[in-house]
Amino acid sequence: MSVPVCENVVLVGFMGSGKSSVGRLIARFLHGRFVDTDRLVVDRTGGREITVIFAEHGEAWFRQEESSALLSLIGGSGLVVATGGGIVTVPENLPALKKLGFVVWLTAGEEVIWERVSRNKRRPLLHTENPRETVRTLLARRNPMYEAVADLTIDTSELTHSEVAERICRRMREVPV
Ligand code: S3P
Repeated sequence: MSVPVCENVVLVGFMGSGKSSVGRLIARFLHGRFVDTDRLVVDRTGGREITVIFAEHGEAWFRQEESSALLSLIGGSGLVVATGGGIVTVPENLPALKKLGFVVWLTAGEEVIWERVSRNKRRPLLHTENPRETVRTLLARRNPMYEAVADLTIDTSELTHSEVAERICRRMREVPV
């Protein structure tokens, strides 16, 4: 049996950690509303896809829009929020993520991440000469940031999206509101 979401659930983690797929499942299980910050940025800035935003305005502009999309969610309830993998790189976003809700870090081993992200080309930060090396560098830089903000960490390397979502839902039912 499902129960309504009382506190917002906020998913953070590297590209390919499964935030959007898992988030949609959690929202369904807990009767919450799924929000994807990437989608929100796209909608709030005229509908251009992320790769186009990066190409036309650059990463810094995207980060500003991402931070303001994040702030716009604070105060909402029953939300399940999947965030972009780089949201933790802006220091002001860390308290905002905590304020928004219960933060879950979805991790996965480097090989698993690489295997997942190399399947699609829609991630502008990986349009480099050596995307495999970029993944390694970004992961090393960002992992401490995800760790610093997380209330709960789940290694998704060997779990299905449903298994990850179920674990989070089980935990949410235990969180006092
Ligand atoms: C980014 C991750 C992407 C998107 C943008 C930048 C990053 O989101 O926000 O391409 O810096 O890691 P996903 O984590 O959903 O792929």
